[in-house]
Formats: sequence, C-alpha cells, structure tokens
Amino acid sequence: MDHADHVALIRRGVEGAGPRWLELGSGEGAFTTALADVLGQGGSIHAIDRDGRALERAVTAVAGRFPAVGLTAIEGDFTRGLPDGSFDGVLAANSLHFVADRRAVLAAIRGALRPGGCLVVVEYDADAGNPWVPHPFSFDTWRVAAAAAGFERVELLHRVPSRFLGAIYGSRARSPRPPDDPRDRP
Ligand SMILES: C[S@@+](CC[C@H](N)C(=O)[O-])C[C@H]1O[C@@H](n2cnc3c(N)ncnc32)[C@H](O)[C@@H]1O
Repeated sequence: MDHADHVALIRRGVEGAGPRWLELGSGEGAFTTALADVLGQGGSIHAIDRDGRALERAVTAVAGRFPAVGLTAIEGDFTRGLPDGSFDGVLAANSLHFVADRRAVLAAIRGALRPGGCLVVVEYDADAGNPWVPHPFSFDTWRVAAAAAGFERVELLHRVPSRFLGAIYGSRARSPRPPDDPRDRP
C-alpha cells in the first residue's frame, strides 16, 4: 500500500468532520500522514503510541510533508486513558487489533469525541489472527461491535486487497448526537 491507498481508506470518513483529530497507535505515521493530507491547513492531530521511536518518525514525516498541520506526539498506552477532548474525529489504523477486549477503549473513544464526531477504523477484514495481528475484526464483526458500543451509522468507506489476511478496510462510525440536534431534523 502507498500513500494514495492510505488516503483512500480514510478520506470520506475525515472530510467534513472537523479539524481536531486524535490518532491511536500512529506507528511511523503512514496514516498520520494520510490524515494530515486530508485535513490540510488548520488541522490538528494528537498522535498517541507506546513506541517513542516510531512516534519520532511520524513527527518527522508529517512535518516534512504537511507542516501546516499541527501534530502533538504523545508517548503512552491508549488503553490507559486518552488525552482530553473533545475531538472531531478519532483514527485507529491497525492498532485496535492489539486489544483483545475492546469495550473499554471504545467507551473511552466515545467519551473523547464530540457528539456526532467520527471514529475512523482501518483494519484487516478478517476475524482470525496470528502472532503479528492477534485480534483482527472483519467489517461485519465491527459493524455489530461498534453499534454495541453506542456508535451509530457504521459504514464501509473503502477496501483494499491485501496478500496478508485478504483485505484491509476503512470504516466510519459516529458518536451519537443529542436527540434534539437540529442537523438531524428533516
Ligand atoms: C501495526 S502498527 C500500525 C501503525 C500505523 N497506524 C499504520 O497503520 O501504519 C500498530 C501501532 O500501534 C501501537 N500500539 C499498539 N497497542 C498500543 C497501545 N495499547 N497503546 C499505544 N500504542 C499502541 C504500536 O506501538 C504500533 O506502533
């Protein structure tokens, strides 16, 4: 996969959501860079990863290609708490499959998002893992799990074939809006 694939996997889930994003498990920044590309000037990303060296590379990559996007790097474990929100969007690319029971982290993500904010997940479209990808979840599984965690309007954004575990998908789910939100009126 290249930068164009990374952008294609997340673009529709990011556009129009708002400028303030949190990324969980940014690694060396493949999707951080894609997110910065879609957000453009005025965008801001808080990127959290427990691997400080990978984070440094992500910072270098984004600063080199998209210097108008603000990047705050946070070395830490996203299962132990999230930075203060609220965020317009949360991106988790190939990182939630390291968490066996995702219910607590999904609740924390909901708490970090503004009402109606977007959770964009990029994941292998498979339900059986291996030592490198221990707990992947297909889109069909994700649709059910996201709804159970209180997210709404779960949709598939894009899918890319992969020699490893078959395919990768990008998806978007939204945190609920209050029932009287004017944007939901006909
Ligand atoms: C497979 S890499 C994906 C990196 C990048 N998002 C991508 O798709 O290219 C997973 C990343 O998530 C990070 N990670 C996994 N579990 C984490 C946790 N609980 N807290 C913080 N970072 C975590 C790892 O350190 C690693 O950098």
